[in-house]
Amino acid sequence: MVRSSSLLHYYSQRRVASSLRGFFFIPTTLALFTSLFILFHIYSTSNLFTHYSTHFKSSSPFFTTPSTPTPHFVPFFHNNASDSAKSPTFQLGYDLRSQSQRGLPLPPRFSSKGEFENNNDLFHDRDIFMEDYKEMNRSLKIYVYPHRTDDPFANVLLPVESEPGGNYASESYFKKVLMKSHFITKDPTEANLFFLPFSIARLRHDRRVGVRGIQDFIRDYIQNISHKYPYWNRTGGADHFYVACHSIGRSAMDKAPDVKFNAIQVVCSSSYFLTGYIAHKDTCLPQIWPRKGNPPNLVSSKRKRLAFFAGGVNSPVRVKLLETWKNDSEIFVHHGRLKTPYADELLGSKFCLHVKGFEVNTARIGDSLYYGCVPVIIANYYDLPFADVLNWKSFSVVVTTLDIPLLKKILKDIINSNKYMMLQSNVMKARKHFQWHSPPLDFDAFYMVVYELWLRRSSIRNSLGDSLRV
Ligand SMILES: *[C@@H]1O[C@H](CO)[C@@H](O)[C@H](O)[C@H]1NC(C)=O
Ligand SMILES: *[C@@H]1O[C@H](CO)[C@@H](O)[C@H](O)[C@H]1NC(C)=O
Ligand SMILES: *[C@@H]1O[C@H](CO)[C@@H](O)[C@H](O)[C@H]1NC(C)=O
Ligand SMILES: *[C@@H]1O[C@H](CO)[C@@H](O)[C@H](O)[C@H]1NC(C)=O
Ligand SMILES: *[C@@H]1O[C@H](CO)[C@@H](O)[C@H](O)[C@H]1NC(C)=O
Repeated sequence: MVRSSSLLHYYSQRRVASSLRGFFFIPTTLALFTSLFILFHIYSTSNLFTHYSTHFKSSSPFFTTPSTPTPHFVPFFHNNASDSAKSPTFQLGYDLRSQSQRGLPLPPRFSSKGEFENNNDLFHDRDIFMEDYKEMNRSLKIYVYPHRTDDPFANVLLPVESEPGGNYASESYFKKVLMKSHFITKDPTEANLFFLPFSIARLRHDRRVGVRGIQDFIRDYIQNISHKYPYWNRTGGADHFYVACHSIGRSAMDKAPDVKFNAIQVVCSSSYFLTGYIAHKDTCLPQIWPRKGNPPNLVSSKRKRLAFFAGGVNSPVRVKLLETWKNDSEIFVHHGRLKTPYADELLGSKFCLHVKGFEVNTARIGDSLYYGCVPVIIANYYDLPFADVLNWKSFSVVVTTLDIPLLKKILKDIINSNKYMMLQSNVMKARKHFQWHSPPLDFDAFYMVVYELWLRRSSIRNSLGDSLRV
């Protein structure tokens, strides 16, 4: 329209100059001329009309959305393009921005019409889950490739005796608990699933292998089991799984594509943007720093601070967070380690921020839940632990990275609308699903991971009988 208005300007100048005598007619003529010109201009330069006709022909409501934008459907590219160019993480998916701008807490992903579930319940469907869980508990069988204690790689392949600790404890905990559980079968013919028992975290520290040797080790391991046993070849590995918490695991399968593409990968780095992770096939292992018992004053603690984050500033998202909120009195963001106890902040804050860092993992989510703090997840597009079962909208807040400047408003709206009490009470209920126990307790992290495996268990097995192979 810039062009058309300057043209109009030109024409009106000419008319004014050439028709001094028709002084009174000028306004009317000009108005008529202008209207005609605008109509002609729109008709000849715009594809508005032609577009509309195709929209109407295609009877799908989605095709008309661009021409009749509603706040729900403002696509991301309406936001600053230079932002989205920085990282692919900013580009795709749902836009929660428009909703949070209107002050809705915990924005629903779809309009009210598309919203089927009750956002206040911890489970998507508790009854279905309970029934199916019992069925799993009765019937699931897992076969683990056997290794002797004198195997040169026993340290990598057998479970640890000690209590697992540290950031990658989930990997060791799972194997340790699984091996003693009633899911284990010695009879591979009755197994639903096959466990590949290598530990990525231990391979990394094994001098014979190390970070550089992991890919070759995995390739050789798969080659070994697929020659020695018939089970891998029956499904191309689709009924096999491994468990890894260390982020090295995301590239560990690069020389074993069947594992990457067919097997179920249970990993802490469950981002859609990591090439090694395949959404829906693979599943998230929660990263949990093991802690005993409950923190003191878990229930009685006064959560005075609005929100808290401390950690390394190793990603554009964290840089943005610190830039925006570093001087704020209600949102406390800290670069690096705290001088005061970490637990005090987690117990003293209403919301605890989990911000995508250099790697994607869920350690801070586990921490927040343990300390009864409502997790705020600022990272786009990754699988959250047990998302097939737990309704994350009922005990966390998911904020897109673009909404960092709106963070305070989003969180305050939640408090003002009394939604906080609901979120926090569900946090207290969700806690037990994020704890490891050996032996396991019903519905703890171990059982929940096994349930996620159970949901992925079906696969067609090719018969590899002798008649077929000759
Ligand atoms: C987009 O961001 C750039 C730099 O971050 C800024 O100069 C520009 O004004 C922004 N544009 C819009 C439309 O917000
Ligand atoms: C699952 O199985 C274990 C071991 O048999 C049993 O102790 C537990 O009560 C079962 N849980 C449920 C919910 O059925
Ligand atoms: C594969 O089998 C060979 C021969 O038994 C053995 O030397 C090697 O250590 C095995 N490699 C792995 C990764 O299991
Ligand atoms: C499985 O398939 C591989 C590759 O096709 C083959 O080399 C191997 O012998 C097969 N394993 C068995 C047990 O037949
Ligand atoms: C934070 O405070 C410092 C020092 O007072 C100031 O230079 C900086 O601009 C402030 N940053 C923000 C985001 O307000």
